[in-house]
Amino acid sequence: MQPEIRIFDASADLFQTAAQEVARLAAEAVSKTGRFSVALSGGSTPKYLFPLLADSSRFSIPWKQTYIFWGDERHVPPDNPESNFRMANETLLSRVPVPAENVFRVHAEEDAEVAAKKYEEDIQKSFGLAPGQFPRFDLILLGMGPDGHTASLFPGSAALKETHRLVVANWVEKFHSYRITFTYPVLNHAAWVVFIVTGAEKASAVKQVLAGSGDGPPAKLVRPTDGKLIWLLDRAAAGELTPAA
Ligand code: 6PG
Repeated sequence: MQPEIRIFDASADLFQTAAQEVARLAAEAVSKTGRFSVALSGGSTPKYLFPLLADSSRFSIPWKQTYIFWGDERHVPPDNPESNFRMANETLLSRVPVPAENVFRVHAEEDAEVAAKKYEEDIQKSFGLAPGQFPRFDLILLGMGPDGHTASLFPGSAALKETHRLVVANWVEKFHSYRITFTYPVLNHAAWVVFIVTGAEKASAVKQVLAGSGDGPPAKLVRPTDGKLIWLLDRAAAGELTPAA
């Protein structure tokens, strides 16, 4: 299925739309199953979305039935400035009534392999999975780097080839460190995947992913097998797409 691509002139409109999508999917999931499972993205872009989601005067989200995960985490303690958990906690989780037991932090202060295994077990337990089964997240939020990585699936890294595990510790040479990341099977089992990508520095990777033929950067292989894929772009990130794209 082709991704839905939405391009915004004003970034405020982009993040408003993203927040509306999260609230819509949360309401739909809870009405269907009584629960909303969402994996948050990391990096800096979500800093513009998370405070909107925390504003209950603008967006109504069933926090008591919401289960929070992360698509990836840096190999640092939760109080480290680089921590995706820390950023989400400061801008969102500390401001909303999500039960602590519904937040599944990656224990990235531990050995990377241990953290990946524990996180994988947490997911398997939360989704009631048998070995070999993959979780179907109601929503996975993703960003993308200028090199076309998403989550912590970086070009040339071993995790790109993982087809069995849910979560792996992935060595990222350019950072000379491990990242803990979802694998492609988890990303592609989701009901909804929403990429939020802004900035001219990503325009080339966006074109390779959305308009290029053949192989492309890691984000190109995120194609939910039985789910919806939406790309929310600002005009700068979409700068190399032809109007027809
Ligand atoms: C991370 C992310 C990563 C991020 C992209 C874009 O831990 O960094 O999960 O995949 O989404 O690197 O990051 P920015 O939003 O900071 O550009």
